Amino acid sequence: MAVNTMSSSTPTSQSGAMNPTPTSPATAAELVTANAFAVKDLSIWYGEKQAIKNISIDIPVMAITAIIGPSGCGKSTFIRCLNRMHELVPRTRVEGKILFHGEDLYAAGSDPAMVRRRVGMVFQKSNPFPTMSIEENVLVGLRLNGVRNRQVLNERLEKSLRRAALWDEVKNDLKKPGMSISGGQQQRLCIARALAVEPEVLLMDEPCSALDPIATAKIEELIRELRDQYTIVIVTHNMQQASRVSDRTAFFYVGELIEFGDTAQLFNRPRERQTEDYITGRFG
Ligand SMILES: Nc1ncnc2c1ncn2[C@@H]1O[C@H](COP(=O)(O)OP(=O)(O)OP(=O)(O)O)[C@@H](O)[C@H]1O
Ligand SMILES: [Mg+2]
Repeated sequence: MAVNTMSSSTPTSQSGAMNPTPTSPATAAELVTANAFAVKDLSIWYGEKQAIKNISIDIPVMAITAIIGPSGCGKSTFIRCLNRMHELVPRTRVEGKILFHGEDLYAAGSDPAMVRRRVGMVFQKSNPFPTMSIEENVLVGLRLNGVRNRQVLNERLEKSLRRAALWDEVKNDLKKPGMSISGGQQQRLCIARALAVEPEVLLMDEPCSALDPIATAKIEELIRELRDQYTIVIVTHNMQQASRVSDRTAFFYVGELIEFGDTAQLFNRPRERQTEDYITGRFG
């Protein structure tokens, strides 16, 4: 069970962590709402092992933030914290503060189920529920939320599959098993399933790592299309992918946030030596 042991503090706006396209000088209140998440002094342990070390980062709203770094450096651990999935892992402990649109995600009254509805997640391996049809896979979250109205369900089904760029490929096969489509289609089905409950944020943990280049290109195109409507955080080992799709990139190394900035800056003019070594392939 995760425990939040930090006392309250106001969110900070770090340099380079605001909405990238302000048109006028922003007030302090606007700066806060320009961030979907304000993470302050976050540390995470698995038992005795510390996986995240005192990270502070502001994740901009309606933008794509990529998280890169070598295996085992805490990328998955970090993004799982953003929708409280992390506390499902036994013997974990969280210290620090995560504000989501200014509200403490781990506050005593905060409902994890509500957090997970607002902050959806897509995992590395696409995993449609094996006994369910394509349609049931998309609608499962809505049904769990008690939606029964057939018209609403049908509308949401089509809308979610369209948003996931899968509708045209499956519209005549909605009753077929979710597992009967290709790996790339299954990954888009999982994206449709995440979108069906209309989250505000989509967390994606290596969504393309099991896909071929064509399926990967489709998902990347989809991610760019979703950018206008969602805040997206994507973990990727593929640096070309991070530079192609994201607005901001964070480089993690052994549990620490080494550098966070505009994607073009981070890849072209990294500020930190460790970032440069990683992106040029000298380690990792
Ligand atoms: N359930 C767990 N129990 C104990 N330790 C864990 C658990 N999950 C992750 N860890 C440890 O926490 C650290 C960070 O792991 P995490 O999975 O967040 O890394 P990652 O950056 O996502 O790696 P990868 O790129 O391989 O997916 C690692 O040292 C890992 O061994
Ligand atoms: Mg991982």
